[in-house]
Amino acid sequence: SLPDIQPGRLEIIRNEKPIPPPPSRTLKFGHTFTDHMLTIPWNAIEGWGIPKIEPYGPFQLEPSSTVLHYAQTIFEGMKAYRDETGKVTLFRPDMNMKRMNNSAKRIALPTFDGEACLELIKELIRLDRHWIPREPGHSLYVRPTLIGTQKYIGVAPPSEALLFVICSPVGPYYPNGFKPIALYGTTEYIRAAPGGTGAYKLGVNYAPGVMPQKEAAALGYAQNLWLHGPEHYLTEVGTMNMFVVLKKEDGGFELVTPPLDGMILPGVTRDSVLTLAREHISGKNKLDQLTDNLVVSERPITMTEVKEASLSGRLVELFGAGTAAVISPVDRIGYLGEDIHIPAGEDGMGSVSRPIWKELVGRQMGSIESDWSVVV
Ligand code: COI
Repeated sequence: SLPDIQPGRLEIIRNEKPIPPPPSRTLKFGHTFTDHMLTIPWNAIEGWGIPKIEPYGPFQLEPSSTVLHYAQTIFEGMKAYRDETGKVTLFRPDMNMKRMNNSAKRIALPTFDGEACLELIKELIRLDRHWIPREPGHSLYVRPTLIGTQKYIGVAPPSEALLFVICSPVGPYYPNGFKPIALYGTTEYIRAAPGGTGAYKLGVNYAPGVMPQKEAAALGYAQNLWLHGPEHYLTEVGTMNMFVVLKKEDGGFELVTPPLDGMILPGVTRDSVLTLAREHISGKNKLDQLTDNLVVSERPITMTEVKEASLSGRLVELFGAGTAAVISPVDRIGYLGEDIHIPAGEDGMGSVSRPIWKELVGRQMGSIESDWSVVV
C-alpha cells in the first residue's frame, strides 16, 4: 500500500518575516492568520508526500484543478487554547480527524492516518503558539482543509490532492457578551436531504447557505433555521447543530436534538453537550445548578411541536451549538409569517444550557480537567 502521512519526514521552512499578532480585542472571526501553515501533498502513485510547515501564503493552482470546478474540498474546525501557565491544548481533536476522513471518503478524496496528521498539526500550533490569545473566550481556530488539485476537468476522483492547515486567532463569537439571536424558519431552501451530504463537512454544504442567510438578514433574522420535509422537521441553525429544551408534563425537562439521520452534521459540540447532559443524569459527573429531572432525546422534532410548546408555555430554550460560537441562544423564530417567541434571559442562556455551557467551556479552556483536553 502507498505511504500514509509521515510526521518523521516533516520539513520546516521558517517565516523570515513573522508579523506581531494583533491586539486580541481587534480580532474578528476568521480574518487573521498566523505566520505558518502546514501542507501535505498526495498523489495516487506515491501516496502522501513530504509534510511541510512553511510561511502562510498563496498557493499555485492549475485553473483546471478539480477543486475549482466540482467543489472537491472538505474542512474541519477545531480550537486550541492557551492557559495562564502557557499550556496549550486542543479540544477533542481526534473527533475532527475521524470526521475529516469520513468527509474525504464521501467525496472520493484520499483518506489518511488521523493521528499522524494531528501530530503535524500540533507541531504547527507549537511553532505559532504565541498567536493563541490568552483572554477568556479567545482561542486559535485551526482549519484543516483537503482539496483535489489534479489538472483535469473530468468528474472523477482526483489523482492529486493537497491537505493544508491554517490557523486563525479568534475572540468570542459575541464580543459584547451573549445575545440571543432571531432565526428565520426557512421554507424556501434546504440545507440537506436524505442520502445527500449534510452529515459531512464538505465545502459544498456551505456556499448555498449564504444567499438564504442574506435573505433572512434582510427580514431581520440573524440566521436560517434549516427545516426538512413537509412536516418542517428542525435540522440545523446556520452552520450549527441545534437543541430544544421542553418542559415535560411532570415539570421536568427534555433536551432534544435531531438524530444523526444522514442530514445532520455530527458536531463535536453537539456530542459534547449530549455527553455532559447524559453524564449528569447518570450521576457520572453532576453539573452545578442543573435539574435532575432531565431526559435527553435524539429525536425528530417538527415546527408544529415547537410552535405548540411555545403557545402552551412549555418551550424553555432553543440554541445552536458549534465550535465557532459554542452555544448560541435563540429568542425568536420567524415561521410562515408569524414570530414564535422563546423565553430567554438577558444573555439568552437558560436553566439547562447555562450549566452545560459552563462545564463545556471549562473543559475547553482547561480550568476543568478532562480527557477531552489534549496537550499540544
Ligand atoms: C461552526 O463551528 O459552527 C462552524 O461550522 C464553522 C463555520 C465557520 C463554518
